[in-house]
Amino acid sequence: MIPDDKVREVAERLSIVEVVSEYLPLRRAGSNYVGLCPFHGEKTPSFNVNPAREIFHCFGCGAGGNAFSFVMKIEGVTFPEAVKLLARKAGIEIEERQLTPAEKKSQDEHSQFLRINELTASYYRSLLLTGQEGEAARHYLTGRTVAADISEAYRLGFAPDRRDGLVRHLKNNGVDLECALKLGIIRKADSGWYDLFRNRLIFPIRDHRGQVIGFAGRVLDASLPKYINSPESPLYHKSSVLFGMDMALPSIRISNAIIIVEGYFDHLALFRAGFKNVVATCGTALTPTHAGLIKRHGERVYTLFDGDSAGKKATIRSMELFLEQRIPAYVITMPPGEDPDNFLSLNSPEAFKTLQDTARPIFEFFVRSLLLETPPDSVDNKVRVMDEIVPRFRKIVDSVERDLYEKEVCRLLGIPVHAFRKRMGGKSITAQDAAGSMEGSTHTVTSVQDTLLSLLLSYSEARTEMANGGLEIFFSGPHLALAQRIVDELKDEEDLQKLGHLAETVEGADLKSLFSRLMVSDSHLANIDWRTVFNQCRRSSEKKQLSSIKDIAARLALLESGSEEYMELLKQADGLRSRKSHL
Ligand code: UTP
Ligand code: MN
Repeated sequence: MIPDDKVREVAERLSIVEVVSEYLPLRRAGSNYVGLCPFHGEKTPSFNVNPAREIFHCFGCGAGGNAFSFVMKIEGVTFPEAVKLLARKAGIEIEERQLTPAEKKSQDEHSQFLRINELTASYYRSLLLTGQEGEAARHYLTGRTVAADISEAYRLGFAPDRRDGLVRHLKNNGVDLECALKLGIIRKADSGWYDLFRNRLIFPIRDHRGQVIGFAGRVLDASLPKYINSPESPLYHKSSVLFGMDMALPSIRISNAIIIVEGYFDHLALFRAGFKNVVATCGTALTPTHAGLIKRHGERVYTLFDGDSAGKKATIRSMELFLEQRIPAYVITMPPGEDPDNFLSLNSPEAFKTLQDTARPIFEFFVRSLLLETPPDSVDNKVRVMDEIVPRFRKIVDSVERDLYEKEVCRLLGIPVHAFRKRMGGKSITAQDAAGSMEGSTHTVTSVQDTLLSLLLSYSEARTEMANGGLEIFFSGPHLALAQRIVDELKDEEDLQKLGHLAETVEGADLKSLFSRLMVSDSHLANIDWRTVFNQCRRSSEKKQLSSIKDIAARLALLESGSEEYMELLKQADGLRSRKSHL
């Protein structure tokens, strides 16, 4: 562990402009320096560095943070590694703090776990490569045309049909079996210790750095269950691992695209055919954490799930995650009944490339498969389809995309645009929708909240005033979360150190990006009379809210009084009114 005061010393000694300039040319532009963003391809500079705040932000891709975050991102290193790297540059010597006994224990246990998994992977690997027992597995791999280099790349292995082969191997290597038990690869019964995997082909599961964190085992015949996976453990969390990420990263960095498949063998088939930017979920549905990982490493994603109804469902569920996290997503469709493995054994890589090139945007895929299921040939069906579409449509953030899909959906359904909009507005709306985050109003509301947040950052009196009034009056969503952090952290003084600390500790990509964006773009608010601006903002949100109350009133008039929807809207209108009276 690096002591905090050392981290601070490094931060003070180096300027972010100096640090960034080692990687890309910067030129002065107003209160910032600008350059071409190293984190996404661009031709006009949207990468800003604010020397006074020691913060960078890219308006193109949303990346942002302080000097440490910059180095972490560009060098692909962890926080302590970034600190050490910059310390070296600044000529500061870092002596790591002694670990507390508890930290030491957990670190020791962690390296024990990794060692056990390494021993296990090598054990299974050697049994696959040599000896009588591995013969059936070698034969199986030959049958599936898995050549030696591919077998090596995945570190495939074979678990013998023995009760305690692994147990003995671990014991012989001095492993504490209780520790291996926590990884779930061996078990304990009254009759003694025994192995989890027996007579199975083994896929080691590695994290993005290539460390073995778990295992999957496939049967060599048609028996069930086809796969067993090692259970959740201190190292292995199914919901946050994408199989094959370590092998895929170099090629993802080149193409910025990620193909996501369901199966280990799907992964293998693509990788073998030269499509290396591929990852697989490990027998679970895609989770928000998975989507976050995808967003962190790539710019767009292709789903390649089975063509059956389960695969369709998985695609649509993943669509919701991608829409929420604003990841452009496309669907690659296989010919009916085929999976990537048999497709690629029958067709050339070029044929697969064509499939990928003709992948459809995921929302379009969704609408089309919906219409196949429920043809819009009656009013009833049209309403049913719209009700499926509307909640997902709301999640499309990009306004251009929304416009396009609105037209497309209406065309496919054979309904006029105003009917669709009515349905969009007619369903119960959330307080946030009512406050104006829908459609064109997004911008104005956001910018008022932006301005207020900037005031919060720069003026301690504004901080006191807004905090006393109640932050939720002024902010909602991520703005509210960030406002809370700013007030908590800065209290009544703004010092650079605290801002730097905020930059490091703000959680979540959206908040981080919002924070760095404000930090590099509020120079017009420096040295102004904050109260004048504050009052302007108040008036403008008041006006906005007034119009949404009018909106609600108009909708109420159309509904049956006393119905559930009616009561819900009424409640929202009341909420807005009391919010307004606070302003
Ligand atoms: P598949 O049955 O498509 O597996 O299941 P596959 O990897 O493509 O294998 P082959 O080509 O039939 O040999 C897809 C994924 O679902 C999980 C595994 O992660 C598998 O790779 N799964 C499947 C399980 O976890 N358990 C099972 O019993 C079956
Ligand atoms: Mn399969």
